[in-house]
Amino acid sequence: YIRPGLVRKYSTRFRLPPTIQEVLSTAPVGQEVSVTAWVKSIRKQKRIAFGVLSDGSSAAGLQAVFHGDLQERVKEVTNGTSLHVTGKIVSSVGAGQAKELSVEKVEILGSCDPESYPIQKKSLSAEYLRDHTHLRARTDAIAAMLRLRGRLMTEINRYFADQNFTYTHTPVLTSGDAEGGGEAFRLAPTSHDPSLSDRDREFFSRPAYLTVSHQLHLEALCHALTRVYTLGPCFRAERGVTRRHLAEFWMLEAEWAVAPVQDPHLQTAALCDFVEGLIRNVVGNMNSEDLDVLWHHRENDSVSTVDREKRREAMMTTVTSPVPWPKMTYSKAIHELLKVDREWEFPVRWGGALQSEHEKWLCEELIGGPVFVTDYPAGLKPFYMRANPQVEGESEVTMGCFDLLMPHVGELVGGSVREERLDVLKASMQIKGMDPDGESYAWYSALRQFGGAPHVGFGLGFERLVGWLGGIENIRESIPMPRWAGRMLM
Ligand code: 4AD
Repeated sequence: YIRPGLVRKYSTRFRLPPTIQEVLSTAPVGQEVSVTAWVKSIRKQKRIAFGVLSDGSSAAGLQAVFHGDLQERVKEVTNGTSLHVTGKIVSSVGAGQAKELSVEKVEILGSCDPESYPIQKKSLSAEYLRDHTHLRARTDAIAAMLRLRGRLMTEINRYFADQNFTYTHTPVLTSGDAEGGGEAFRLAPTSHDPSLSDRDREFFSRPAYLTVSHQLHLEALCHALTRVYTLGPCFRAERGVTRRHLAEFWMLEAEWAVAPVQDPHLQTAALCDFVEGLIRNVVGNMNSEDLDVLWHHRENDSVSTVDREKRREAMMTTVTSPVPWPKMTYSKAIHELLKVDREWEFPVRWGGALQSEHEKWLCEELIGGPVFVTDYPAGLKPFYMRANPQVEGESEVTMGCFDLLMPHVGELVGGSVREERLDVLKASMQIKGMDPDGESYAWYSALRQFGGAPHVGFGLGFERLVGWLGGIENIRESIPMPRWAGRMLM
């Protein structure tokens, strides 16, 4: 049985068998189908057994009915068993689904010991499932999250392709800490030969790190392909263990060249508008069945059902409402925070970082939705950002940059106008203690020397987007195999 409509320009003789999602959506009653799947649950009666089969292709499983002479085989079937079944699609008599599979042939591919199988039917806490990371994709919520991630990637690629961006692949092994945050994982030397110099013991004959951001390399490609993006893994040795940070996470990053504009504020505003358009369009195309599973999933959840419904509605309104997401300068944000009569754990002052309690208040209480905070003080931001023109009478310099804050997630995106003037860039690197002509960054400075062009860019935390969209409380449930300080199970 081949899914109708699956006709390609260049057909091959090779055909994949249908997934359960395809069977449920397109196979007509009377059709013979075969599927390979895992048993989610099985209910055995004297002469008949009902199983729910899942191959992870959809939120819904396929109900399978095993009649009379299959009973011997079915005895061995338990939750988690993998099967290859063949049968006919029939109309379902049971409530809840339109069709089911009347099984004619069962092959047991792999048995599953019911005593020791960690994924029991009863509700399992997120913490427990993290201890069984290798099997947790068998649960509804993790499977829905995985499909959501895949679909988000597809939609993101589609959005960028529509805007004529090139998807590029920047390295994971890098020569420096792009963000200057001192959180880069360093590769250990590969040789212990005492006769070698420190440098020669290094695999690359120089220190090497796992990338914290693909931005700098993306900027190099932007200086040839004009509009580029990448979606790749980033690594940060952040010791603080929070529900928003991972040691390995994925970031969507884009860089593009822009026309020179006197006022960098306009560039920043346009950059925010691009990001808003991206998120709205991508999110608007998600599968609602998977979102239902995620939003209704309440294991280990501290939020009431009513509040969850409200949050989901607010999230969708954010995406569909024609009202643009508000923009607010950092100075204005500080001004608002200082007005609140509240004991902050971290005192509010101009020049200080916005802590997550401040960000939370700004988007959840003051605005009640996403908010772009722009024009942060120079001291809070990395060397590559372009400064705003200094306002007369003000000594403080702000940057042409923004952070996008989302309710319940905090900072989802950060971006800026990039400094394209070589002299200014070098000065700002020196202020941050970096050597603009040293081996780690000379190539970056040189981009400005050989046809440097005004450009802008941003980075979006992919797991935070997944979490915001699916109402997922902890970022560890937004990635297949989470890593954080002290923890890497597989
Ligand atoms: O604000 P960040 O550090 O910005 C950069 O790295 C820029 N170079 C990006 C760019 O302009 N190309 O990180 C960007 C986003 C954050 O807003 C957050 O969503 C996510 O990456 N992020 C993390 N997500 C999970 N775990 C962590 N440890 C994260 N650190 C940052």
